[in-house]
Amino acid sequence: MLDTTALNQQRNFFDGHSSLWLFGYGSLIWKADFDYLERRSAYIHGWERRFWQGSHDHRGTPEAPGRVATLIRAQGAVCHGMAYRITPDVLAPLDTREKNGYLREKVPLTFVDGNVGDNGDAAEQSEGLIYLASDDNPAFLGEAPLADIAQQIAYAHGPSGANAEYLLNLATALRELGAEDAHIFALEHQLKLL
Ligand code: SIN
Repeated sequence: MLDTTALNQQRNFFDGHSSLWLFGYGSLIWKADFDYLERRSAYIHGWERRFWQGSHDHRGTPEAPGRVATLIRAQGAVCHGMAYRITPDVLAPLDTREKNGYLREKVPLTFVDGNVGDNGDAAEQSEGLIYLASDDNPAFLGEAPLADIAQQIAYAHGPSGANAEYLLNLATALRELGAEDAHIFALEHQLKLL
């Protein structure tokens, strides 16, 4: 099975830092089973969330993969999520958790609760780390009609549980953040029709 762990250990964008910001946009929003120093609602520019990544190890199996979130580039888009300030030792277990095609990438992130300066545009920003499953990874499934994606999610199960739970938890978490996400809420609606 695909395993990006070794590759990620070479991707040391925050070498020498005693802590770094991890930006979660999928399960990392609602399943923070790792230690963190603080967490803040945040967003990234130029990316949209999509259920286009296959899950063979968490929410599906090699025979019947589930679908989980990744990001695609989209000019002008904003993707809301949760930023966690972590110590570097937390990355090793995260690399294992995200090993099915996700690679560490460095992105600028903006905190939702950042102070806005007198000129109105000084929202607080930082460099952050994301786990990104790009379209050239072997577990990438890509676009499909929403109804088909919802159907696949409805029936997939894996070692971490039902794929439907992942989608519903993500939709609930985004609502709690006050985040707009047409793709996720449309998929949630489709799933509930089944
Ligand atoms: C993330 O949540 O930021 C990465 C994808 C996932 O684990 O769902």
